[in-house]
Amino acid sequence: MKQTNQHITDLILQLQGVDVSKYDETFLNKSIQKRITETHCNSVQEYCALLEQKSNEGEYFLNSLHISYSEFFRNTLTYSALEHIVLPSIALQKRSTKQKEIRIWSAACAAGQESYSLAMLMEELKNGDCETIKYRIFATDQDQTQVIEAQKGQYTAEALNNLSLKRFNQWFTQLGNNYIVKQELKANIDFSVFDLFSEQLGCPPASIFGDFDLVVCANLLFYYKHEYQKMILEKTSGCRANGGYLICGETERDILIRHNFKEVFPQSAIFKK
Ligand SMILES: C[S@@+](CC[C@H](N)C(=O)[O-])C[C@H]1O[C@@H](n2cnc3c(N)ncnc32)[C@H](O)[C@@H]1O
Repeated sequence: MKQTNQHITDLILQLQGVDVSKYDETFLNKSIQKRITETHCNSVQEYCALLEQKSNEGEYFLNSLHISYSEFFRNTLTYSALEHIVLPSIALQKRSTKQKEIRIWSAACAAGQESYSLAMLMEELKNGDCETIKYRIFATDQDQTQVIEAQKGQYTAEALNNLSLKRFNQWFTQLGNNYIVKQELKANIDFSVFDLFSEQLGCPPASIFGDFDLVVCANLLFYYKHEYQKMILEKTSGCRANGGYLICGETERDILIRHNFKEVFPQSAIFKK
């Protein structure tokens, strides 16, 4: 498996100029096997020949590595802890230190489901007893197509299944067969393209200095090899405010525990360093 992956990794670098060696071996192998089946090749050798002959196969292969699946309020337990404990406690701490703004980074926002879920929680907090609190969400992804989709905020009815009726009615309007996020919910979110492996940038430029109370970096760590997971965790940790939280996907908890993060509530995927 290692040798096959290495050969294809070298070919992709040579033909497409993209280094895919940072991806986890098992994930890379599954993606290669999937493309072999989809292209009806009978062997890895045949697939390598195809990669060399058909210039667009390299692009198809790279696209197959970009998994952008997301959901509103994905990981119920985490969102419940955020709603009832973490966000109110950040708001309380802001109030006691006379700071007004809660700063959040949604670091792999895909088509916006995560960022809008966070914005709904913040709006509900403001409508409770924290009306003086302001918030800003910096929502980024490496994939420009996803960022454009996120800015649009347009979803199928099926994509909104996880939402309560109250949230659905409050924040969406119908547009043909789809539903679009209301402008009021978009108003406090800044969407931009940002690669977590960027060597030049430590945090999204729009945020200027980072200082995030909450960073959500969910459901992408497991696609990368250990050393690259470490790079992402260093980057997302480096721009948290003092005492800021880091949130991963619920299936990624072991990765953060391995990197000495402390889980704030058991099984919640909400961590502090
Ligand atoms: C499976 S989706 C998860 C989306 C969302 N965070 C969630 O939990 O539902 C993974 C996202 O991570 C993004 N991603 C992968 N590698 C990235 C990187 N190096 N920098 C920024 N975003 C990245 C992908 O483009 C994709 O939109």
